[in-house]
Amino acid sequence: MANILVTGASGQLGTELRNRGFSLLDEVFYTDIEELDITNANAVCAFIENHDIDTIINCAAYTAVDLAEDNEEKARKINRDAVENLAKAAVRYGCLLIHISTDYVFDGCAEEPYTEKSPTNPQSVYGLTKLEGEKIIKKSGCIYIIIRTAWLYSPYGHNFMKTIYKLAHEKKEIGVVNDQWGSPTYAGDLADMIIRMMECDELPELEGIYHFTNEGKCTWFDFAKEIVALSGCDCEVKPLTTGEYPTKAKRPAYSVLDKSKIKKIFGCEIREWQEALRSCMITFEER
Ligand SMILES: NC(=O)c1ccc[n+]([C@@H]2O[C@H](COP(=O)([O-])OP(=O)(O)OC[C@H]3O[C@@H](n4cnc5c(N)ncnc54)[C@H](OP(=O)(O)O)[C@@H]3O)[C@@H](O)[C@H]2O)c1
Repeated sequence: MANILVTGASGQLGTELRNRGFSLLDEVFYTDIEELDITNANAVCAFIENHDIDTIINCAAYTAVDLAEDNEEKARKINRDAVENLAKAAVRYGCLLIHISTDYVFDGCAEEPYTEKSPTNPQSVYGLTKLEGEKIIKKSGCIYIIIRTAWLYSPYGHNFMKTIYKLAHEKKEIGVVNDQWGSPTYAGDLADMIIRMMECDELPELEGIYHFTNEGKCTWFDFAKEIVALSGCDCEVKPLTTGEYPTKAKRPAYSVLDKSKIKKIFGCEIREWQEALRSCMITFEER
């Protein structure tokens, strides 16, 4: 039996973890900013001590990639400083820290999937502050698992799948970038992976960085076309270049992650992104 703290539990990944649940033997405390603001170091320590927490799963983050460009201080407060609070508390109370990071720690200049050992070089404030969060964990001396993921979507919160689904119902034509490559990831599949990892008794000895996305790669245009097809709408998706769709934050042109390590160590297979999307859309449309 373990006492587990999930932070940022009202976000996409946190909600998927809550929907799935852990072993009945575990006591899980799902918190978001109202119950536990992770930027408050004293509150973090008090919560962990009072609830005798063994494992922290940090799903909290500042995830507004474009807004972060003008809000660097706030992004850093949540993506770095608050992560330091969790890491220090993990050292003090002997907890395992499971933390989620991003493909945006890479610059996108690669031509083959990034491994956990590939050099990082973030191109945005979001990516930079998330990398700072990774570094502070590694330096802290806590026992950690960092999972980098990418292009996360779910029936909850704000995400690309929901935006395209809505636009497909409203418009006859939409334009989507066709020169940025990555791997869409259903937050439910990532939640399943985390639960599977938690079931491994040797998890603390397996500390390190892991990459997890759904299998396969595509562009945002391919992803949008699949969403529109599944929505059954008669909306044409037109390919755009990054230059034709400028955003405040620079996105990596290629951010496919190599998942060999997580698959080998935890002996798991990962679904193709199209299959995961179908399953997420069913849940989304049933809501
Ligand atoms: N979304 C993606 O495409 C993507 C891609 C790669 C990696 N990731 C990473 O995956 C993880 C999960 O992402 P997600 O999409 O599930 O994020 P999300 O939906 O934005 O959820 C994050 C949650 O954290 C909460 N939060 C913010 N500040 C907090 C604080 N100080 N204390 C406690 N909670 C706080 C947020 O509340 P508010 O909503 O009120 O701010 C929100 O409920 C994050 O680490 C993210 O960086 C995401």
